[in-house]
Amino acid sequence: MDQLLPTEIIEAGGAFPEALAACGDLDALLRLKGAYIGREGSHAARLMDLLKTAPKEQKRDLGAAINALKQQWEEGLKARQAELETAKKTRAAQASQWDPTLPPPVPVRGALHPLNRLMDRLVDVFRPLGFHVEEGPEVETEAHNFDGLNIPEDHPAKASSDTFYLAAHPELLLRTHTSPVQVRTLLRVAPELAKRGGIRFLAPGRVYRKDEIDPTHSPMFHQVEGMLVGHGIGMQHLKGTLEYALRALFGPHTEIRLRPSYFPFVEPGCEVDVSCPLCAAKGCRVCKGSGWVEILGAGLIHPNVLAYAGIDPAEWSGWAFGMGVERMAMMLSQTPDLRLFFENDQRFLQAMGGLD
Ligand code: PHE
Repeated sequence: MDQLLPTEIIEAGGAFPEALAACGDLDALLRLKGAYIGREGSHAARLMDLLKTAPKEQKRDLGAAINALKQQWEEGLKARQAELETAKKTRAAQASQWDPTLPPPVPVRGALHPLNRLMDRLVDVFRPLGFHVEEGPEVETEAHNFDGLNIPEDHPAKASSDTFYLAAHPELLLRTHTSPVQVRTLLRVAPELAKRGGIRFLAPGRVYRKDEIDPTHSPMFHQVEGMLVGHGIGMQHLKGTLEYALRALFGPHTEIRLRPSYFPFVEPGCEVDVSCPLCAAKGCRVCKGSGWVEILGAGLIHPNVLAYAGIDPAEWSGWAFGMGVERMAMMLSQTPDLRLFFENDQRFLQAMGGLD
């Protein structure tokens, strides 16, 4: 039957479904309707003219073909019209619900991550004591991460089982602590140390170790390093400063306790505990019944560290500490699982609004 129809009509028929779907409103649909089944100049009108002039023996078949096409177009147009009318009604209903006098919805405000807020708080505690912030790169050299810190070649931390080395640059690594900022800063300020009368700074930042992820370990975590270099600095200055800072953080009744410990870059070295801020040292789950919580490593700067940076250890002395930020955040917020800090579930972050 189709061969009875002119090619352009066949093409118009083929294009119909797409043209119909493309009609976004009733006006467009009306134009399409005019083009296909309108009284004059439409495809249907042309077909009727064709039928009139067709040879008698073709009229029956041609008539049937024309009717089938026209019916298809009419039905399509009707269905699309119903769809567009419904959509128009829905839009009108929605528009009538819109009250332009209402205030606009309040946008959700972003906030600093709880770990960043805690680090900021530490910086705020030390700033009045004359400490500023120093930074260093997370991709470090062995020299800054180990050698300048008096860490011997055979130290277990240097082993690739603990440290992420960069595959393409085996001499580079992800820093395993914030202590390389000690080395960088001392090297930089060494020539002007006398003029400055010493230096005191904090270095907060990310560090990396090959730890399996579990409730208390993550291959990426945060530390805050603290360092002071001056004349005649001893353990008493370290203890007094830490007592002041940790009381500012955990409350005025906080006690601190120094236990001897070993880090290659300090001598003597110690670990510092605070009396458990959650149970007032009576013993609870967080302090595992002991009343004390380990909070940081510290000590007097090893002479080799000063000498590496070109600072005379006979003239200068100082202290340094490094504390784990997640540990402290977990304790302050009583969060049992470290991973919550990195999953960034908005409900958790929202609840952490109370960390400050
Ligand atoms: N860098 C040590 C660590 O990551 C902590 C520390 C810093 C200890 C400074 C003493 C002095 O465990």
